Amino acid sequence: MPREEEGLKFYRCNTCGNLMFVMIDPNVRPTCCGTGMEILDHIHGTEGSEKHAPIIEFNQNDTTVQVGLQLHAMEPEHRIEWVALTDGERVEIQKLGLTTPPVVKFSKMNENGKVRAYAFCNIHGLWQSEK
Ligand SMILES: [Fe+2]
Repeated sequence: MPREEEGLKFYRCNTCGNLMFVMIDPNVRPTCCGTGMEILDHIHGTEGSEKHAPIIEFNQNDTTVQVGLQLHAMEPEHRIEWVALTDGERVEIQKLGLTTPPVVKFSKMNENGKVRAYAFCNIHGLWQSEK
């Protein structure tokens, strides 16, 4: 059974670093490099959320996502690697460089349903929020 109402699932290959997401979940564990990929569990409502929880803002012509009420650090050893946004019909993912703050402008999302944002910290893992 598809479970897209739960949002996206992200998987990582611990051998090669491959990253993938599943939008419609058939409950099959994807494989890479000949072995099952590790699911990235969402973290929310726990310690550190003020620097990691994505904040979604609906604007007139776009949707912005800011990572953390206090912007997360963007240093080589500790940074936000990517941010993703979905309204259930469309997914956008932005990789982040070290020179830009973790604030991303996405397309205007369909605000009638749930919009979910994800941010991946190389140390503290995957964070999710919804609006
Ligand atoms: Fe972090």
